[in-house]
Amino acid sequence: MTLNSLPAWSALQSHYDEISGERLRDWFAPQNDTAPTRAERFTFDGGGLAIDFSKNRITDATLKLLVELARQAKVTERRDAMFAGDIVNMTEHRAALHTALRATADDAPFQQQVRAEKAKMAAFADKVRDGAWTGYTGKRIRHVVNIGIGGSDLGPKMVVHALHHLASPELQTHFVSNVDGADLYNVLQTIDAEETLAIIVSKTFTTLETMTNARSMRDWFTRQGCPEDALSKHFVGVSANPEEVVKFGIAKENVFEMWDWVGGRYSLWSAVGLSIMIAVGPKNFEGLLEGAHRMDEHFRTAPLEKNLPVLMGMIGIWYRNFFGSQSDLVAPYSEALHYLSAYLQQLEMESNGKSARLDGTMVDYPTAAVIWGEPGTNGQHAFFQMLHQGPTIIPIDFIAVLTPEHPLVDHHAKLLANCFAQSEALMLGRTLEEAKKVAGPGKEALATHLSFPGNRPTTTILLDALTPQTLGALIALYEHKVLVQASVWDINPFDQWGVELGKILGKVVEADITAASADPAKHDSSTSTLIARARKALKR
Ligand code: F6P
Repeated sequence: MTLNSLPAWSALQSHYDEISGERLRDWFAPQNDTAPTRAERFTFDGGGLAIDFSKNRITDATLKLLVELARQAKVTERRDAMFAGDIVNMTEHRAALHTALRATADDAPFQQQVRAEKAKMAAFADKVRDGAWTGYTGKRIRHVVNIGIGGSDLGPKMVVHALHHLASPELQTHFVSNVDGADLYNVLQTIDAEETLAIIVSKTFTTLETMTNARSMRDWFTRQGCPEDALSKHFVGVSANPEEVVKFGIAKENVFEMWDWVGGRYSLWSAVGLSIMIAVGPKNFEGLLEGAHRMDEHFRTAPLEKNLPVLMGMIGIWYRNFFGSQSDLVAPYSEALHYLSAYLQQLEMESNGKSARLDGTMVDYPTAAVIWGEPGTNGQHAFFQMLHQGPTIIPIDFIAVLTPEHPLVDHHAKLLANCFAQSEALMLGRTLEEAKKVAGPGKEALATHLSFPGNRPTTTILLDALTPQTLGALIALYEHKVLVQASVWDINPFDQWGVELGKILGKVVEADITAASADPAKHDSSTSTLIARARKALKR
């Protein structure tokens, strides 16, 4: 049975027709919003987080129907299969067991390997942190350079930045991902080879960008005077392909393993998070896992009606598939969460940006929306204009941290006030009548410009403080939201075939740019002209 033939789907369609013209400001009017209020009915706690869904275009009936759709689409079966280690990534014939990386039960899958690798990481991280691990001239390590891309970069980078307040002041962590030489070159200008540790992170250990950067980094070390036989003091590798790491020249004892049952974009909890552990210490890394585990337990056990990832995922489907929204904004009111939206872009769009159903047929409904974002309050002075007055509806996740991780407490009330005021303004809007009063007598034309449609849906996620635990829970919340949506859309969120074609053609084009002579007939006229221009610029 396909999604749009499920009874709950048609029920939601009729429900949409009934309520899509209604206004949030009326639902919130004191005479209508009597006890229990919308805030009380639509705010839920779980895994150490609280989420206020009340400023969404939902009623009790909407939630009921969305939960019913989740049931009919077998979200719980897909969830349980993932936790049990079933082959849920069928196109690659793999389990997706990122939850096992943060499990606490002895009988959870793969615990022996997980715990052994974590202990190895902790022993290594401690040595780097306390200065016992030294470089080729005996100096302690002060710079850690994580070389990786996609899931081998975005997660660790986002978390190291988010937990900066807990990081060792002795160490600076750098992230290099782009094959654009500027990325590595700029970092190399700021570091000293004697005090630098490179972590080469790649699940496959074949990724073009990572291998190019890793080789250039190795050359740089040698040029700086590091003897070949001392390179092992400066390079460690993280991969599910340890043989390739050793072939690259990294000492066997410096290889940290991950496994094929950990997807790249779900991997920061594994040895891929080594840079996190070195920056904030093994105890804080454990805290991150603990927070994610709390969210796992909530997702696994809470009734669907109060289950945060289920509600987030289903409300997302409400907008995407019924309102026809095209993108979701993630607006963390936290500089520390600066890289969260970049991380979520990969998590959501690489997971759910698909058109093939599990049975190989094509979907006839939209799947993943575009995810984008910037921390508030910066966005307010840029693109928020469109959110308030543009004709397009963009659902927003506001993320607010109630207590600051820095001593500038007086900034914090302003920050939170702005976050809450934005969701209030987006919900209320300003009617033409109200705008006329603001414009003043005789200024009807101006009033249109001063009016706001309102009725713009937002969700507010609250963290008491930015701790490893709350951050872990927040990330796991989004991971599970992705699974919920994938289950409803009947797609596989754990593969990424869509990135392959570009990689294959990239190799051909690279050869044509660098070869002694190029065959223009091989490509379309646009691509051959671009190649010719590149050859000229690079003097080939
Ligand atoms: O090209 C996409 C991708 O495979 C992502 O899924 C992955 O996170 C990234 O590249 C990096 O892959 P690897 O860790 O194997 O270098």
